[in-house]
Amino acid sequence: MIKKGIILSGGKGTRMSPLTKAVNKQLLPIYDKPLIYYPLSILMLAKIKDILIVVNKGQLEQYKKVLPDGKNLGIKITYAEQDKPRGLPDAFLIGEHFIKKDNVALILGDNFFYGQYLTEKLKNSIKLKKGAKVFLHRVNKPERYGVAKVKKNKIISIIEKPKKFVSDLAITGLYFFDNKVVQYAKKLKPSQRGEIEITDLLNTYKKNKKLSVDFIGRGGAWLDTGSINDYYKTINFVSAIENRQGFKIACLEEISLLNKWITKKHILKAIKFYGKCEYSTYLKKLITK
Ligand code: G1P
Repeated sequence: MIKKGIILSGGKGTRMSPLTKAVNKQLLPIYDKPLIYYPLSILMLAKIKDILIVVNKGQLEQYKKVLPDGKNLGIKITYAEQDKPRGLPDAFLIGEHFIKKDNVALILGDNFFYGQYLTEKLKNSIKLKKGAKVFLHRVNKPERYGVAKVKKNKIISIIEKPKKFVSDLAITGLYFFDNKVVQYAKKLKPSQRGEIEITDLLNTYKKNKKLSVDFIGRGGAWLDTGSINDYYKTINFVSAIENRQGFKIACLEEISLLNKWITKKHILKAIKFYGKCEYSTYLKKLITK
């Protein structure tokens, strides 16, 4: 069972400069909430309550203003600082003392997931005892991602940002690992871009025949917020769904309430915390229905 999760929320967000010069990318808005709410909601939907957020050095106070310690969400949030980006598996080196002897999930702070069967898939994934699990999603531009070649629902090869076409199945930024991940991450050597790579880590699991796979599916969405164009496409997506349905995507308090981690009292406190805004009006509706 996986009870711990890490959100890797550092990075310079260079492709979105000057927006990211003063504010960390994951604190920028995706429609009506900060970007970080979306990956956090995914861990919470997976019923993970013990969460470490890795942030850039010097940006801790900004995060704590909006996500203090998780108490009001019935979860536990702790923070760790990263002095510079060294690649995704660095999350396990920074998080070694948080992970201890447990298994762990990792989600990238700028990844957006949405879909009808996602929650079921997530709940299934945290049952992982041994090995690692990744989620794949078909994309138009696989050269931008780590990709996996799959045969009969098994991964046969993994390549980071392939120049030549190998597969259109991208490895999304949501991973589930057993406790060996820390030991494996320590052995990784930096790639040509000077970072340790998640795909090398996954290849270690693959070599040991311990890598499993699931798919977001064509009815689900995995969106990118890396470039300015993709960032606005994600905002449009959230705005379209929320305005049409009246439901909010990634309303953290709603997820906690449905998970029975908090009560009406916490929602009233949250309304006070956010102040008079459209998000608070939504929260109010949750407890007055
Ligand atoms: C990273 C990973 C890549 C993965 C992607 C998902 O890419 O290296 O394998 O497909 O995240 O967002 P990066 O954002 O470092 O370019």
